[in-house]
This record gives sequence, C-alpha cells and structure tokens, in this order.
Amino acid sequence: MSQPLSGAEQGKFSAAKAATTFVKDGMKVGLGTGSTAAWLVRHLAEMVRNDGLRIQAAATSLQTATLAGELGIKIQSLDEIGWLDVTIDGADEFDGQLNLLKGGGGALLREKIVAFASDQMIVIADVTKDVASLGKFPLPVEVLPFGMQSSGILIERALLDLGYQTAKPVLRERDGSVFVTDEGNHIFDLHLDTVIDPEMLSQTLNGIPGVVENGLFLNLCDTVIIGFEDGSTETRRFEDGAMATSRADNIANLFSNVGD
Ligand code: 5RP
Repeated sequence: MSQPLSGAEQGKFSAAKAATTFVKDGMKVGLGTGSTAAWLVRHLAEMVRNDGLRIQAAATSLQTATLAGELGIKIQSLDEIGWLDVTIDGADEFDGQLNLLKGGGGALLREKIVAFASDQMIVIADVTKDVASLGKFPLPVEVLPFGMQSSGILIERALLDLGYQTAKPVLRERDGSVFVTDEGNHIFDLHLDTVIDPEMLSQTLNGIPGVVENGLFLNLCDTVIIGFEDGSTETRRFEDGAMATSRADNIANLFSNVGD
C-alpha cells in the first residue's frame, strides 16, 4: 500500500533516488547505514529486480547487510570485493567543505573503512544535515572495551587541552545497556557544540590509546546530494577544486511504495 512520506523522509527518499544515477551496471558499491542509506538500498534493490542492474555490494553495518539481503541484494565482504567504485552513505552533519560528522547510528568505523576503500564517496541527506560548522550533533568516538573508562578520561583531558570547556564524554547506551558496535566496541558521544579545528581534533582523538576511530570524515566526500520536502534535490560537488551546485526538480513520487 502506498503511504505519504513525511517531509524529512521525502528528502531522504529523493536524495537516495538521485544518488542511484551514480551507480552503473557492474559497479562495486559500498552501502551506508541509517535511514537515508536504507532508502538507497530499497531503490537499488528495485533496480536490481526490475532493471537487471548488476552490482557487487559491501555493507557498512550488519543492519544494512540484513536489509539488503532481505531485498535481494547479495552482500559480499569488503575483502572479497577488494576496492569499491563508490560508497553512498548518510551523514549527521556536513559543512561547506563537504566535511562530515557521522556515527549517529553507531557504524562509523565500518563506514570510514568502506568509504576510504572507495574511489568516490557520495553523501545523501535531507536539508537538516547542512550546517555552517560541525559539532552541534554529538561527535561519536569508538573505543575498545578494554580500559574504556580510562580512554574516556583521556578523551576528556584532551578536549580540555584543546579548549572545549564542557565536553564530558557520554558513554552511549541503548535500551538501558551500554551500546555495542558491530566490532564489539563502545561509543563515547562528545557534546562539543562546535568543532573548532576538525583536523586537529580528529588527530588528537585517534592518538589516544583505546580510541579506534572518531566520527569526523574529513576531505573524503566528493559529492553531497540534498533532498528537500518537495522531492527536489541539490547536488554539491567539488570539480577542479571548486564547488559546483546543480538542482533537479522532483524526480521521485511524493508517494512511495518502494519497500512495501
Ligand atoms: C550511521 C551514520 C548515519 O549515516 C547517520 O547517522 C545518518 O543517519 P540517518 O540517515 O538515519 O539520518 O553515520 O553511523
């Protein structure tokens, strides 16, 4: 049964639909994690089913692998595929340089590994993710279980040294228990408000023993596709060092039955 989508959901749907134009027959594709990436998986599954699209796909999380498998997209490990043509993923925030803050869904480690193993990274997002500077969304930092409280203390000290006065790391929980990532690690969320120097912060965090990775994705994303409530999209893309912007009208139905 067709159901109307809410405004934000329509934006995610449309951005994901627009991103499918970057996926060509025979490509090796990294599939992101989250509600926007789930739309991408549904759209691609439809293309596999109806148009005979052939892709090799690697997933950035067990959640995405499960959805893709249910919809008929065969998932292979990144090591089986080797290198990817493109990874398409969501983001919690992106800035004017297409730097990203990711990991709201807890998949930042696999997401970063997959994105780095790709010729191209495309982000799909609704317009609420567009920010002047990163950091309003809590920055996730994945830590090993061993000594994680000490890692938390070291993170807090490092943040104070960098001038973040109120940044107490908050251990992520889900359903009353400590959140566990696909790699069996845990996450501290950092409520920074504004990331002052993303490069410095990322390097500092990753230099702390026990920290596995942080949710800043810097100088990695080539293209952001923003979806709006009316179904239109805007694509921002670095071309020859300059930002190129293009708009497209509603390319997708305002009412969707994809995934029914
Ligand atoms: C998961 C992520 C997601 O891409 C991010 O949280 C955005 O999710 P959504 O599309 O549901 O808003 O980084 O780790």
